[in-house]
Amino acid sequence: MTGVEAREITSRISGTGHYVPARVLSNYDLEKMVDTSDAWIVTRTGIRERRVAAAGETTSDMAAEAARRALTAAELDPKQIDLIIVATVTPDMPLPATAMFVQQKIGARPDCPGFDISAACAGFVYGLSVANAYVSAGAARHVLVVGVELLSRVLDWKDRTTCVLFGDGAGAVIVSPSRKDGRGIVSTHLYADGSLAPALCIPAGGSREPASVETVSSGRHFVRMAGQDIFKFAVKSLASSCVVALTSNGLAAQDVDWVIPHQANIRILDGVSKRCGVPMEKFFLNIEKYGNTSSASVPIALDEAVRGGHARSGQNLLLCALGGGVAWGSALVRW
Ligand code: ACO
Repeated sequence: MTGVEAREITSRISGTGHYVPARVLSNYDLEKMVDTSDAWIVTRTGIRERRVAAAGETTSDMAAEAARRALTAAELDPKQIDLIIVATVTPDMPLPATAMFVQQKIGARPDCPGFDISAACAGFVYGLSVANAYVSAGAARHVLVVGVELLSRVLDWKDRTTCVLFGDGAGAVIVSPSRKDGRGIVSTHLYADGSLAPALCIPAGGSREPASVETVSSGRHFVRMAGQDIFKFAVKSLASSCVVALTSNGLAAQDVDWVIPHQANIRILDGVSKRCGVPMEKFFLNIEKYGNTSSASVPIALDEAVRGGHARSGQNLLLCALGGGVAWGSALVRW
């Protein structure tokens, strides 16, 4: 575990934005593709529909659009960005980092550094933690953090146990110095347990199983998941990371105004709610509309909470996410 408990709040989120592709794929559409039903998907996951990127649309296209919206919200010019962090497990290419394409597409400075973070659904919380550390250390003034995923290209559309769960999209924030008014990123806590790596992975296409005719024909370039193993681990671990975020800051469950969670499964969130004592009414949910967008999930929900007027000045927002790795974490933000 690594934790940053800010004695003094030194960074804040100065702008948020998100982008989802226009094409909607409903549970009824999926009924025509695999042996599933709207009733099964809704009751087992809470998902009704998800977005799917258009042919030719790339991860960096979606990331750049979300980034532009976050920059506008922060009233910043792209040239003012000092670092670009892109959290994704579905990069444009294995090499180079998607952050390079984002730099070009948003018109950031030609020497603006950038890199990708691979922490699956926890990627945005990991990225936020890194951005907070950079800004707090004075090593960067404005950091762009994007969580973006184009999972529809790495799903086996014949496998009903995975293809109904995921969707495409991007969310972005700008992390900037705090205004010393008690608002901003209060703390972040990151965790991982690599012993569970096989439970959620894309087995082929990396150096261990390079792409070959066999790996492609056996579908080993698609997401594989032992759903139940992840489910049980997720409830326990997300809840404990939320409890740590609160206790390390001297807060109790009733001090939370909104939980902005990773939207993987409504039943996981129900379990987290019961374990950490924050009622479900305080969980900001959009899983119905987008499904599990992995690293994009938390920043999309955050942007919707902000733009919808739900997240208000001075409120305590508790962000949490868990995904492949298994990697997970939480962040407490005073809005
Ligand atoms: N439609 C109909 N039936 C289905 C479907 C489907 N889409 N998928 C599975 N089933 C069937 C199974 O075959 C099984 O049938 P059986 O009893 O005849 O064998 C039955 O439904 C129950 O299957 P389970 O896997 O036990 O269902 P469960 O209640 O565990 O739900 C789910 C599965 C939704 C995947 C759940 O386990 C889950 O959400 N897991 C966690 C996912 C997660 O959080 N992942 C981490 C983030 S993702 C990332 O990092 C990229």
